[in-house]
Amino acid sequence: MKKTSAVITAVGAYVPDYILNNHELSKMVDTTDEWIMTRVGIKERHIQKGEGLGASDMGAEAVKEIFAKTGIKPEEIDLVICTTVTPDHPFPATANIIADKCGIKNGHGFDINGGCSGFIYGLDTASRFIESGAAKKVLVVGAEKMSSIVDYTDRTTCVLFGDAGTAVLLEPTEEEIGIRDRILRSDGFGRVHLHMKGGGSVYPASHETVDNKMHYIYQEGQHVFKHAVSKMADVSVEIMERNNLSADELSWLVPHQANLRIIGATAERMNLDKEKVMINIERYGNTTSATIPLCLWEWEKQLKKGDNIILAAFGAGFTWGSIYLKWGYDSK
Ligand code: UT7
Repeated sequence: MKKTSAVITAVGAYVPDYILNNHELSKMVDTTDEWIMTRVGIKERHIQKGEGLGASDMGAEAVKEIFAKTGIKPEEIDLVICTTVTPDHPFPATANIIADKCGIKNGHGFDINGGCSGFIYGLDTASRFIESGAAKKVLVVGAEKMSSIVDYTDRTTCVLFGDAGTAVLLEPTEEEIGIRDRILRSDGFGRVHLHMKGGGSVYPASHETVDNKMHYIYQEGQHVFKHAVSKMADVSVEIMERNNLSADELSWLVPHQANLRIIGATAERMNLDKEKVMINIERYGNTTSATIPLCLWEWEKQLKKGDNIILAAFGAGFTWGSIYLKWGYDSK
């Protein structure tokens, strides 16, 4: 019997209209376009505005794009996995809200919090459902309203993040395409360097947690940078080596977009030309678990069936990981 693999068969994304550029930020905090471009590589980010809107609204738009592109009906979906650190509510899962907004009624859904590695974790989990035969059509939705947890008086974090909703559809195949290999890692020692203190069961929301700004992203940038640079490159090189992939055989690296310098260091360790690295951090900033699918969405027309692609990420937890896949289709 042939082995069943999981392959991405469609990509969708949604970014809100409002663009927050470096010029506007420089009027809010003590920063400059020059500092942000040299240290991070971001020019602008999209921000979701409007009362009562959340990550699910962006994720649902991305899913609807997939339905429109493929003609697949909501009732055919077996599973929705939403990867997010900014769920609409602590519960129920944002995956359930997205499913409801898209008319998905015949499956089940749950959220995964893998920090900025969320999409890698979600894609891995989804592929296991497909490979085992437990599901035939799975949506992985990376949806983040990072602006809801950013302190816009803190220059060390407010320049970094943006909002976006993204989705990929995974289906079974017996061809030698799709998810080929994965390396997933986490180590909770890193939690002290990147977290949100308040709003969970340790420090539930109170006047005190609000006064102490505990509902915002806390990041010790240099510590996170140091680990991100080494760990993201380690797993990217390891997955290349154990699949006997040379830099020439690799079509694309799709890295998490946190900092242009981290992306550059990873590509260098992999010996990869810049032209093979998907980079759009300049226009979207760090959209956490949406960065990798946002790249796939933007580059979709350039991708060809059989392209060797490595996805790599590092984020809060710490979490990190890489996935090696062969792209599944030529774009129409
Ligand atoms: O996606 C999840 C994982 N996250 C990451 O991978 C992020 C990893 N970290 C980073 O990308 C970088 O550490 C940052 C971009 C966050 C910061 O860059 P850095 O080169 O590490 O800067 P730094 O924290 O060492 O700060 C250098 C200086 C400091 O001033 P002093 O102490 O030297 O006077 C900061 O206060 O830059 C100052 N600074 C700023 N200046 C202008 C920090 N933020 C800003 C800013 N504008 N926005």
